[in-house]
Amino acid sequence: MDVNIHTNVMEKIVALAKRRGFIFPGSEIYGGYQGFWDYGPVGVELKNNVKREWWKTMVYGREDVVGIDAAIIMNPTVWEKSGHLKAFTDPLVECRVCHKRFREDNEEIIKDHENIHNDEKDIWTDAKTFNLMTEVLLGTTEPKEKSYLRGEITQGVFTNFKNVVDSTRVKIPFGIGQIGKAFRNEITPGNLTFRSREFEQMELEYFVKPDEKDSEKTFEEFKEIRMNWYKDLGMDSKKLRFHDHEPEKRAHYAKYATDIEYEAPFGWSEMEGIHHRGDYDLGNHGLKYNDNLTNEEYTPWVVETSGGVDRATLFFLVDSYREDGDRVYLKLNPKLAPYKVAVFPLLANKLELVEKARGIYKDLKKELVVTWDDRGNIGKRYFAQDEIGTPWCVTVDFQTLEDETVTVRDRDSGKQERINIDKLSEYFQNELR
Ligand code: GAP
Repeated sequence: MDVNIHTNVMEKIVALAKRRGFIFPGSEIYGGYQGFWDYGPVGVELKNNVKREWWKTMVYGREDVVGIDAAIIMNPTVWEKSGHLKAFTDPLVECRVCHKRFREDNEEIIKDHENIHNDEKDIWTDAKTFNLMTEVLLGTTEPKEKSYLRGEITQGVFTNFKNVVDSTRVKIPFGIGQIGKAFRNEITPGNLTFRSREFEQMELEYFVKPDEKDSEKTFEEFKEIRMNWYKDLGMDSKKLRFHDHEPEKRAHYAKYATDIEYEAPFGWSEMEGIHHRGDYDLGNHGLKYNDNLTNEEYTPWVVETSGGVDRATLFFLVDSYREDGDRVYLKLNPKLAPYKVAVFPLLANKLELVEKARGIYKDLKKELVVTWDDRGNIGKRYFAQDEIGTPWCVTVDFQTLEDETVTVRDRDSGKQERINIDKLSEYFQNELR
């Protein structure tokens, strides 16, 4: 039976992520470091596949989008102009008993903490605003210059707006895509990578003429494009929804905003934000667009799609988690799976089988991300590959030596079929299309 088990799924995902090499606690040998995570050998493949699929859809898949990769540390004036130094804040409350600090709007954590001091009354101070920007000190002489690790990757797009217009043939409407690290001094990081202090974003800033109706249409179009991206990559559509932001909940730059939320084991949670930023950013940076056909000069408006790479990666993991009796497997879309194929010799001590299997492994490796396993018995190897979501396992057995066929075992159904070695590459490429 193909059952998606929800109970305790988060604990199971955390354990699996560690056991199989998806996600490790950052600096673990020194006790970890709150809000920082490292991706292991299969985690980095999954995360890179998420980014690659995003870039394929949002940049290569469109004629009106180009990409950039801006620096993480920018001139501090950027953050003054963008409003982040003033307004990029979360509400923080402090426990009067133990002086621990929490995000006021994190109801679950607030309740848990109240339970610890359940004999005390009125434990919380009034909420204070807490700025999320991470400070860094640069230079060799004192006092060092204070700068910031970027709180959103977005500002690098705005500051390069003119460079992109001048160096390419883009014309409004057009977009600039970017993927990269962002940093926030989060008050309460948690739920594995969901809320981290260092994370990655994948964003499109789409520049349009300042027009209420047209920009609203663009906003609606991008909502659908982004929602369909998650669904097309296999996320359960019943666990996806839009959530419009009330005016008081919107970020300081947003005219209006909608989140794409995923129903995580810890509740409905933001995975991506779609924002109408109006002329807030280009206006604050004093940047304009000159339409050299009509000679009009104006400040473009911006519709933004801002996804979290780590959140998408986490939710693809959670969404694909399956238990079938004793078998645990990740029903990941093959495009996202860390390894597409695993190749095994039936027996590790039979030289002819090992040599034949090594040849197949090396050939497939030229085109696909393939792994090799000759440990233990076949059952154990299937078990290990299922847990990391490898869609197909190829076994070289004694029949292979006679008729040049191998068994290909399908992760989801467990079914095996015999395929000619010559046809393997075509078979996998077709499945991955
Ligand atoms: N440029 C707009 C922007 O940064 P945001 O809603 O603050 O908007 C966009 O962030 C996305 O970045 C979120 O939907 C989420 O996926 C991801 N994100 C934000 N803070 C995060 C954190 N502390 N840890 C992991 N991902 C985060």
